Amino acid sequence: MRILLFTGKGGVGKTTLAAATGAALAARGRKTLVVSTDPAHSLGDAFGHPLGAEPSEVDALLSAVQVDSRTLVDTSWHRLRAELQAALSGAGLDTLDAEELTVLPGVDELLALTEVRRLAEEGRWDTIVVDCGPTAETLRLLALPEAVSGYLSRVFGRRVTESVRRLGAHLDGLRALLTEPSVTTVRLVLTPERVVVAEARRTLSSLALRGIAVDGLIANRLMPAPGFWRGGAASWLRTRRTQQDAVLAELAAAGFRHVSRVEHRAVEPVGLPALLEIAAELYRGGDPLDGDGTPVTPLLRVRPSPEGYTLRVAIPLGRGTEVDLARVDDDLAITVDGFRRLIALPESLRPCRITGAESDADGLVVSLAGNRGRG
Ligand SMILES: Nc1ncnc2c1ncn2[C@@H]1O[C@H](COP(=O)(O)OP(=O)(O)OP(=O)(O)O)[C@@H](O)[C@H]1O
Ligand SMILES: [Mg+2]
Repeated sequence: MRILLFTGKGGVGKTTLAAATGAALAARGRKTLVVSTDPAHSLGDAFGHPLGAEPSEVDALLSAVQVDSRTLVDTSWHRLRAELQAALSGAGLDTLDAEELTVLPGVDELLALTEVRRLAEEGRWDTIVVDCGPTAETLRLLALPEAVSGYLSRVFGRRVTESVRRLGAHLDGLRALLTEPSVTTVRLVLTPERVVVAEARRTLSSLALRGIAVDGLIANRLMPAPGFWRGGAASWLRTRRTQQDAVLAELAAAGFRHVSRVEHRAVEPVGLPALLEIAAELYRGGDPLDGDGTPVTPLLRVRPSPEGYTLRVAIPLGRGTEVDLARVDDDLAITVDGFRRLIALPESLRPCRITGAESDADGLVVSLAGNRGRG
């Protein structure tokens, strides 16, 4: 089972490329489900096929579903919320507080993810392609299982009731699914315009901090090269394409070696034949499941050093990225451009002191001293 998540800024082509990828996977004989978690029902428009909240068949081996988080809120959330409320009042909070606490932001997103997991566990599909909402929301969505389960364990500690334990286990399961690189990978879609480089990097480091593997970067809406044509229109195209090529070169210089490309079509790619054509350009006859070949490095690696240990944290950092490191009990708090994550230090490092940190092409290198061999 594989899960491919498509994300990127608003309007860059996430839905179109997710649909095209799904169509290409099915054409190669894989049972594929394309899921949209975006409340705007555009996946059905891309397929030219009306979709519902239950998977419906778009073609042989290809199904699609429009996850409707509002309905999910009405059904699943009520049960979960009641459980959480019972748990909170069991922990000494009165019912009113408990009620306020259970109006969590991000519940829609959490339920959408839960639905993806439920569909994955049905085992009916070889691949699930997820058309996620815009990047910021996706990042929030992907951080939720970890954030909420951390919150639960801090609030409840060991006095965990059965329902909180179940909720925690559910969130851990979601996180495990998302951070298993042999199952889940992210494809980041962008349009080659200025400012995308810094932004792509920010997105990639946020995903890396969350332990989520990215195995593809796609530049969509590339202007066709006008060749030797003459005239005003050709010159306009040439200028636009030159600007876009400069952005692609900047991406390459920033270390993004593999960027797949899709040209801007004159006609919106709607319906299976047009989507398959997009996929042919995107994957060039290769398997859409194969990522760009970037090896997936684990987030943390520990090596002994003369003074203690060095800890490598694999997060892509650009020049000018603001990084802040702090020790919080047994965790390392890493803040990159304002996004903070607590990473549990491996057992052996807990008695050590942080003595320094620097960054290189592969991420952060933290030096720790003391107590080697004892912890
Ligand atoms: N390569 C392309 N050539 C021409 N039109 C395209 C291309 N890619 C996408 N489009 C069109 O651009 C519009 C936006 O694409 P799409 O809906 O896939 O973007 P999105 O990233 O999912 O947007 P949103 O953030 O709103 O969900 C659609 O009308 C789509 O048909
Ligand atoms: Mg979309």
